[in-house]
Amino acid sequence: MKKDKILIVGAGGQIGVELTLALRNAYGADNVVATDIREAHPLLKDSGPYAMLNAMDAAATLELIKKEGITQVYLLAALLSATGEKEPKRAWEINMQGLLQLLDIGVQEKLSKIYWPSSIAVFGSTTPHQNTPQETVIEPRTVYGISKYAGELWCQYYHQRWGLDVRSLRYPGLISWKSAPGGGTTDYAVEIYHEALKHKKYTCFLKEDTYLPMMYMDDAIRGTIELVDAPADQIKTRMAYNLSAMSFSPREIADSIRVHIPEFTIDYAPDFRQQIADGWPDSIDDTAAREHWNWKPRFDLAAMTTDMLRNLSRM
Ligand code: SER
Repeated sequence: MKKDKILIVGAGGQIGVELTLALRNAYGADNVVATDIREAHPLLKDSGPYAMLNAMDAAATLELIKKEGITQVYLLAALLSATGEKEPKRAWEINMQGLLQLLDIGVQEKLSKIYWPSSIAVFGSTTPHQNTPQETVIEPRTVYGISKYAGELWCQYYHQRWGLDVRSLRYPGLISWKSAPGGGTTDYAVEIYHEALKHKKYTCFLKEDTYLPMMYMDDAIRGTIELVDAPADQIKTRMAYNLSAMSFSPREIADSIRVHIPEFTIDYAPDFRQQIADGWPDSIDDTAAREHWNWKPRFDLAAMTTDMLRNLSRM
């Protein structure tokens, strides 16, 4: 069993639920304190310690860290791209304030590691869209992307200035069955499986040929834990690492579903999220993550579709 006492902030979200379960496996349930602003997610309720915590409440966060003897923090609380465009100022506050406070707490309390997720949303329309490199033009056009890019720079700054061990990944769209996504532009790739099983049809809010980088949650969780576990000298960027697994369009995911549900149909009614998606990369070059800490995805579209449909149909 690994040592360290972990705090997860935003444990009730799409990543948080599965990351908490995986970390409880690796570190022992009692060593992973899950928190969220909401009541415990059903999967987290009886699997280990849980507390309600507002990520923007620095005093309560510090108190919990001291009380529990926390050594590592995963800060996952955020407003995503689509919700963020509806409330830009609030998204900026939520996405930035929690991070800046935690970076200060990290220095003050000498936390051994902090993990904070970034996103493909840091990239904008001036970035090359195919195989987007690790280092490239970065001009995000959503408030979510702006907050993630600013956050990456702050993480790098705290590492350079104070030696704080902060690590980060630029997640692509994440697809999962245990926990639901909320407010993202890539959420269609989760909704489509639910609707395919329930109604055999889906109306997609993106156009059929909109390619986006995507990843199955199993890969994202494993990648996160591998990054955090990697020896510090293998972490050669303190901005967030590009991370890639697959790239597909709504038409292609629909085709992969039809292999299992031949009568499934899809139509398209693009909304404001189309513009967000159009600014993001089609595919990502994650050579740095592969070379520095041996990242390698396991799931492609066909394997993910099989696994998603099998698990969702059992629920
Ligand atoms: N899944 C996120 C979103 O769509 C991207 O990080 O907002």
